[in-house]
Amino acid sequence: MNNMPAEHKPVLAQRIRDQLKLKSDSVVVDATIGFAGHSRMFAESLGREGVLIGLDVDQKCLEFARQSLSNLPCKVLLLRRNFAEIADCLNQVGIEAADLIFADLGICSGQLADIDRGLSFQQDMKLDMRLDDRLDVTAADIVNGRDEKDLADLIFKFGQERASRRIARSIVHYRKAAKIKTTTGLVDVICRALGCSPTSRRSKIHPATKTFQALRIAVNNELENLSEFLEAIPLLLKKDGRAAVISFHSLEDKMVKENFRQNKTAGVYNIITKKPIMALRPEVLENPRSRSAKLRIAEKL
Ligand SMILES: C[S@@+](CC[C@H](N)C(=O)[O-])C[C@H]1O[C@@H](n2cnc3c(N)ncnc32)[C@H](O)[C@@H]1O
Repeated sequence: MNNMPAEHKPVLAQRIRDQLKLKSDSVVVDATIGFAGHSRMFAESLGREGVLIGLDVDQKCLEFARQSLSNLPCKVLLLRRNFAEIADCLNQVGIEAADLIFADLGICSGQLADIDRGLSFQQDMKLDMRLDDRLDVTAADIVNGRDEKDLADLIFKFGQERASRRIARSIVHYRKAAKIKTTTGLVDVICRALGCSPTSRRSKIHPATKTFQALRIAVNNELENLSEFLEAIPLLLKKDGRAAVISFHSLEDKMVKENFRQNKTAGVYNIITKKPIMALRPEVLENPRSRSAKLRIAEKL
């Protein structure tokens, strides 16, 4: 990765440590290993009998994680797989059930800065947004290929952007002259639609934040993947094993909350976090990304 973090700080680390009592022989699945920040913390509790399984769709993250997790006493198994396929992944490595299944959803700051990922509205990059470069459709394909209504619906549904129709109209207008191929090109089109400059603020967030979120969710099928992952977890946890999920926007958090609630009603889970755990002020000041993180934990009955 061309922007490897010198010191990567996993979000809500202390709060997670307090909640998850791992033993030296625990089996831990980190479904979003990223830069292995959380996994290194989990591994501190694991001994020679412990197993850490890490998944990620981004090959560069896995390479970084592999280096970072070398020389641990526990067994480490890293797979370039989508967490939607978690059941098959565990089957592949001969694990029947885990003590902890953890996911820290979304993207790492290193991926945001990675020029090959094309995710940032702050820097000029090729408009791509695929976390898994084996996927076929990029953000540029969507922006230049979908009709106006489809674009508006997508930006509204996944970005919760109230100006979705204006933005979709602007995209369709400007792409007639030339395809929108870069992140800053798209920012320019969004700002023209909203009548603002990239540095002006309609609110606390950048004017392109919601549209970029919508495109990233669509390109990476993020909500479908999360739904399949959440459905698979109960069958893959040991009794008293825990599912812990950190989400960063309300679409994801609602899905996690609803899944845990349904499993509680079905007598499958006990919900450990009645309200989601959020970062305290010192962490938010140190790591602004933690501001929107919500951690929910459930225990298998
Ligand atoms: C927020 S980062 C995780 C950071 C990690 N907890 C750490 O401390 O370094 C999310 C990671 O999940 C990966 N990811 C996103 N969607 C995925 C999916 N469906 N399956 C597997 N990995 C995914 C991303 O590539 C990214 O590396």
